[in-house]
Amino acid sequence: MRSLKKFNFKGKIVLVRVDLNSDVVNKKIILSERFKAHAETIKYLKNKKAKVVVIAHQGRPGQRDFTSLEQHAKLLNKFVKIKFVDDIIGAKAVKNILDLKNGEAILLDNVRKLEDEFKGNSNNNFVKVLSKVSDYYINDAFSVSHRKQSSIVGFPKKLKSFMGLNLEKEIKYLSKLKIKKALYILGGAKAEDNILLLNKNKVLSCGLFGQICLISKGVNLGAQNKFLKDKLKIKNKLKNKLKNVEMPSDFAVKIENKRVELKLKDFPSKYIIEDIGNETIKKYADEIRKAKVIFMKGPAGNFDLKNFSKGTKEILRAIEKNKGFKVIGGGDLSTAAARYKIKKIDHISLSGGALIAFVAGKKLPGLEALK
Ligand code: 3PG
Ligand code: MG
Repeated sequence: MRSLKKFNFKGKIVLVRVDLNSDVVNKKIILSERFKAHAETIKYLKNKKAKVVVIAHQGRPGQRDFTSLEQHAKLLNKFVKIKFVDDIIGAKAVKNILDLKNGEAILLDNVRKLEDEFKGNSNNNFVKVLSKVSDYYINDAFSVSHRKQSSIVGFPKKLKSFMGLNLEKEIKYLSKLKIKKALYILGGAKAEDNILLLNKNKVLSCGLFGQICLISKGVNLGAQNKFLKDKLKIKNKLKNKLKNVEMPSDFAVKIENKRVELKLKDFPSKYIIEDIGNETIKKYADEIRKAKVIFMKGPAGNFDLKNFSKGTKEILRAIEKNKGFKVIGGGDLSTAAARYKIKKIDHISLSGGALIAFVAGKKLPGLEALK
């Protein structure tokens, strides 16, 4: 894979795939660490006098968080000057691309508005139109590289291609992670991602994932079983993979917005679980202290709620204190780490599903395409 660092992009039209996919709350895009990271790559290319055309996605058609990238352009402008063009492959987009001056950048609209994006090949109109007007392609979106989509795998077939600064950094640190020796701390909501990492190393489960593990084992958490209904399809698959998985022994539930601690024996409960409990935090922190290599993905609880940030915060602090090699990741956990000023971590990945796939040793279509 080619690094962009030694290449001369002056006066060239460079198509850059980034990942600005973020949470949407009340129709507002929430600023995430991804903006800052990709702005570095865009800034670098602008300083080298390239003409920069940025492409990205937000959500998926039919989903609540599927929007245009207009707000993303505003947020990106906090870090680097870039103009939004509300078109992708029409005459307007092409004109704006051809009008670019050296050192200028534009952001095109959500590539997932095009059906071609989901074809995952290079002989569709999307790839044809943009590769015709561009000189080079850069993939800076490690976090989308597990998707076989046209903006990721199509352009490298047509254009000389490079790794972006952010993608290169992700690969550098993740390759250093001695994963066989790692203690895994797996939280978040995506059991179907986490399952790829089970049956090998010791796992401390937390977040919704920890609850899904307990339910798969036959534990009845009460109201929380109902809340997780849509996420329990994986139960039977998960059941046979829990041999090395430690599960929470207590939880914090929400009663009139207050944090109330309940032991596992107090369940089923009619209250919703928002965090791991104090006993679990302490037990996990002890395990973390002994580990030589640590990999954590996904938060331990609903840290957006003030009374329920404790689990995520304390686990991150325990990791920070450990002297070994530490990698954490997932969009939410990287946001939490920034919020609690967790600094002493060897690498904070901005990826979720792609990170798990990479760590599990799977081939990522986006990286294969760059080779
Ligand atoms: C992410 O947010 O994890 C990436 O942008 C990939 O998005 P996707 O899961 O919608 O493909
Ligand atoms: Mg995501």
